[in-house]
Amino acid sequence: MEAKVKVNGLSFVPYLKRDEIERQVKRVAAELRQDLEGKEPLFLCVLNGAFIFAADLIREVGINECKINFVRYSSYSGTSSTGKVKEIMGLTEDIEGKDVVIIEDIVDTGLTAEMMMEDLRSRKPRSIKFVTLLHKPESSKTGFKPDYAAFEIPPKFIIGYGLDLDGKVRNLSDIYVIDED
Ligand code: IMP
Repeated sequence: MEAKVKVNGLSFVPYLKRDEIERQVKRVAAELRQDLEGKEPLFLCVLNGAFIFAADLIREVGINECKINFVRYSSYSGTSSTGKVKEIMGLTEDIEGKDVVIIEDIVDTGLTAEMMMEDLRSRKPRSIKFVTLLHKPESSKTGFKPDYAAFEIPPKFIIGYGLDLDGKVRNLSDIYVIDED
């Protein structure tokens, strides 16, 4: 693990180590495995940030009958915090009657999550569960609560394990938090 990561002139310090991430991914996977027993879930990995988490989580859940789609939401640009989902890209499956599991990297204000849930509900799945790697409950503007969260964290900016700053540093195996000192 790097002692400090510098990106775009900002400094980040270690926050969640790889082995701790692995432990929590295993915990969430065990809960999902139990709750999805007998089902053939459709995992929706939300790009870009969730790709590493989703890869680890889905393999750990270990349901061979699952399907996986990679989706990306685009919001109307130029709108304020109440922006609307413009389009869902990459959803190749008809989700009507399916057990859908959304895999996200982070829930911050909860606005993205709320928009996604609204859009997906209108497509009439049998059930929708929302899994996130990180949840910042204190940042919530919506009261949205994910069904599963690997970590609850304070409202600080973090990077690594799929999460980016300006598209960079998603490759880091550990999670780093912005150095406010
Ligand atoms: P929300 O709509 O405010 O919940 O924001 C969700 C999105 O904001 C995430 O999918 C991330 O792309 C981004 N985001 C929020 N907090 C962070 C962070 O600490 N690091 C990196 N991206 C973040």
